[in-house]
Amino acid sequence: MNNLKNILVGITSSIASYKIYELVRLYKKNGYNVKVVVTENALNFVSTLVLETLSENEVYYSQFSPRNNVQHINLVEWADIFVVAPISANTLSKCAQGIADNLLSSIFCAYLSTKKPILMAPAMNKNMWNNPFIQENIKKLKNQNVDFVDPEDGFLACGDVGCGRLAKIELIFEKTLKNLFQNKINNGKKVIVTLGGTKESIDSVRCISNFSSGKMGKSLCKWAYRMGFDVLAISAVELENVPYKSINVNSADEMLEAIKNNDFDVLIMAAAVCDFKVKNKSEKKIIKENMQHEFALEFVKNQDVVKKIAQNKRQNQKIVGFCLADEDCVAQAKNKLKNKNLDYIVANEVKIALNTDENKVTIIEKSGKIINMELDTKDNIARKILEVVCD
Ligand SMILES: Cc1cc2nc3c(=O)[nH]c(=O)nc-3n(C[C@H](O)[C@H](O)[C@H](O)COP(=O)(O)O)c2cc1C
Repeated sequence: MNNLKNILVGITSSIASYKIYELVRLYKKNGYNVKVVVTENALNFVSTLVLETLSENEVYYSQFSPRNNVQHINLVEWADIFVVAPISANTLSKCAQGIADNLLSSIFCAYLSTKKPILMAPAMNKNMWNNPFIQENIKKLKNQNVDFVDPEDGFLACGDVGCGRLAKIELIFEKTLKNLFQNKINNGKKVIVTLGGTKESIDSVRCISNFSSGKMGKSLCKWAYRMGFDVLAISAVELENVPYKSINVNSADEMLEAIKNNDFDVLIMAAAVCDFKVKNKSEKKIIKENMQHEFALEFVKNQDVVKKIAQNKRQNQKIVGFCLADEDCVAQAKNKLKNKNLDYIVANEVKIALNTDENKVTIIEKSGKIINMELDTKDNIARKILEVVCD
């Protein structure tokens, strides 16, 4: 497992600078070490006291420190990634030209040669953003493998409406981890993850479903994205502000159709697909007043989505099933692995896995190899599953 942990955050002078408090907090909450370097101009917008408290480290802003005159070099060595957010038009242009006239730009100047990842999140007025010199400088930086989280369209602090607003903090966070963990070999490989509990209509407004939250699937999507895969989530739960592609579906039939319409190298079926659908469903809303006190719904079995897809899978495609059961889940999972022609199956128990943040799983391979995992966060388990499956 790749354990890159040290994030160097650069903050320049922009009205959006205060948002980086939240980014630093998010990195720390997820177990990363954070050091912050700010431009002297940025000190008009952010407080070193707040940043030191949140990062639990000294905040650097002076090029010339009597105690340590080579701190720009030490910080370059320390960091696994350099994230400059927000990056001003001024600093962005200096970086593109190799100008090193303060601590932050000196760090960039040295950092670029290390080939370690750099991520920039610009924020500026729309006219600054549209300035051809700025766009030219962005191209130059991209040519040197600097990655960007582009600003958004919307209301800008100056009152204008247009492109220039700092990207969402969650997006900057996800792109940071992608830059840390992506494996170039995975680029272009397609991973489909299905997630959430599907819904089957009773009438035009009511449905039956299950208690699946989609958390395991969301963790799988996040980690597949971070590892550099081309991720498509086929989801029965709402997904907001995610950096990967997603399709929303309701029923098992819709989920099957969506998978059929999209190619994949790896399919991970983390969704809790309803096994039954209502046979006598009503096209219109059932009116309560017209109903007896008691009435019955009839059900028919749904198509087995993963089995259907696995019947026609190509040799180089991998399919991962999930098996959720109250007891004997490993035995049940072994049967499913065989009967459904899967490459892997992940066995988990209802009382630990359903609608929780943690899980305890057993991964069973077609070859018969069994990997028992300890109770862990769904994020860590997702990472491990992907490492096993995409090895
Ligand atoms: C209130 C205010 C807000 C500003 N917001 C931005 C901004 O969002 N983006 C930007 O590029 N410049 C912005 N500027 C201009 C920069 O602060 C200015 O170009 C500065 O020289 C950049 O310094 P630095 O790159 O060393 O941090 C703003 C200036 C002021 C006074």
